[in-house]
Amino acid sequence: MIYVTGDIHGSIDIRKLMENDITKQMTKDDYVIICGDFGLIWNYKREDRKERKWLKWLNEQPWTTLFADGNHECFPRLNSFPVKEWHGGLVHEIRPKVLHMMRGEIFDIEGNKILFMGGAASHDRGPAVGDTKAVIGKFWWPEEVPNEDEMRHAFQNLAKHDNKVDYIITHCLPSNLQFFVKKGQYHADSITHCLEAIYQGVEFKHWYCGHYHYNIDVNDRVTIIFSRIIKLGKTIADSETMMGVPKYMKHDTVLIKIDEEILMGKITQVMPWGTMFKHDEPYYDIDLFDKSREKPLVTIKETQILEKSLAE
Ligand SMILES: [Fe+2]
Repeated sequence: MIYVTGDIHGSIDIRKLMENDITKQMTKDDYVIICGDFGLIWNYKREDRKERKWLKWLNEQPWTTLFADGNHECFPRLNSFPVKEWHGGLVHEIRPKVLHMMRGEIFDIEGNKILFMGGAASHDRGPAVGDTKAVIGKFWWPEEVPNEDEMRHAFQNLAKHDNKVDYIITHCLPSNLQFFVKKGQYHADSITHCLEAIYQGVEFKHWYCGHYHYNIDVNDRVTIIFSRIIKLGKTIADSETMMGVPKYMKHDTVLIKIDEEILMGKITQVMPWGTMFKHDEPYYDIDLFDKSREKPLVTIKETQILEKSLAE
């Protein structure tokens, strides 16, 4: 079985992979795909104690970890790992069971053709915050955005597969979808344009990306994933409820259903393990937008939330 999840940022967001309803069922035949911002190859000097500890931990899990790169990776170190052929494509072998899926490679995993095309522009460091010199080579690397050769390589590989794959794994979105999701806050660049061309010209079943730090199905073929772990081919909407791993996050605007009434509100508190009295699924406190209601603050369970909205 192949599972997909979002950014782990080194040890910061790795908790979702610790024992939970999904990971405890995984076996040595399973794979977990991380859609970029792996972040465990981060220290610009060398592998440090923390990285070693968490890479050992990942390597000892039953499943095999496959990651696309994001924008938060130390690229000179990442690219120094041995390149190996694996399931029809090229990987950097970080550990025997922790593999970096190189840009533009197409793999055959359990009979699925999967294109990996990592990379994205940072919005929190480097040129985006105007201090390139202070961070270059330490916490930001220009290689975060794929170069022309890497993009050409992706198009050539896709052409070899008649521009048809089953799944596409990236860190960021194609330009138009990114504009729609971020309302113009993130600028289009060469990698989002490259992904736009892939989106327009390649036949695929579903596309998964990370980067934006939320869980949402952008449309019926594209999913942004962060905290959830879902089966390849599934969407956020049709994924199962997981105790301890909520679908929605604090400050998310959501559509909810109470007594057949559809309402909109903002999540003010997330209770991943349920409330003091109810432990059947994650619960949420929601501040409803309709202040004319008698009780504008409600506590509801996850299955009462219809979807995350892009409205703020
Ligand atoms: Fe991230």
